[in-house]
Amino acid sequence: MKPSKQIYANYTLEDFEVWKLLFNRQIEYLEDKVATEFLESLEKVDFTSDRIPNFEEVNNTLSKYTGWQIITVPNLAPADIFFNHLSKKRFTATCWLRAIDQIDYLEEPDMFHDVFAHTPLLSNKEYTDFFQKMGQRAIQVICEPEKVTMLQRLYWFTIEFGLIKSSEETKIYGAGIISSKSEAEYSLSNEPTKLEYDVAKIMNHPFRTDVIQDTYYVIDSFEQLSKSFDQIDTQLFS
Ligand SMILES: [Fe+2]
Repeated sequence: MKPSKQIYANYTLEDFEVWKLLFNRQIEYLEDKVATEFLESLEKVDFTSDRIPNFEEVNNTLSKYTGWQIITVPNLAPADIFFNHLSKKRFTATCWLRAIDQIDYLEEPDMFHDVFAHTPLLSNKEYTDFFQKMGQRAIQVICEPEKVTMLQRLYWFTIEFGLIKSSEETKIYGAGIISSKSEAEYSLSNEPTKLEYDVAKIMNHPFRTDVIQDTYYVIDSFEQLSKSFDQIDTQLFS
């Protein structure tokens, strides 16, 4: 049974070791490859290699910047619960870490993915405006599975696997890439297809969760995301 509540005293030395190893490795690798907005937000939430984040402290910090909160779930939340929380500025996160002998193997998202890769940007206003609106739209269409699927695709190709072009350089902002060294390497190589952010295309683009992505969508800025809701609404409601 995975924990459904963070009890800080229950973290083991191995947990601290896993956090440290992954944190140092990803920071070293990502420093010049990840969006500057992510690095800035990492400083805001004050994550370090020697300390597993304490959710209460993270929430105090986030409330100062955007009012978002992380709430603990034992495993990946079902779509309706996940989107409902998003619509209310809450992000569902696990609080357990993978074992050290599974350091490169992620069967399902653990807190290194949920907290290291997702949480810092919850302190960024433009990013969270987009994220919250996505949740609100999903709740509006929750009884229409095809429309929920369209929003899941939007989530997938932005929040999880999005790239951003800043000053002519393509960088990473998607959490699925931030928490995986191999996907980070691959996403910035010349192998995958990289397309400009296109709401209609994304919402009609099926994805697979069991393989590395073959296509990534590149945004210009987080502002582009938050300003794309007219196009999103056209896809959903016309
Ligand atoms: Fe994720």
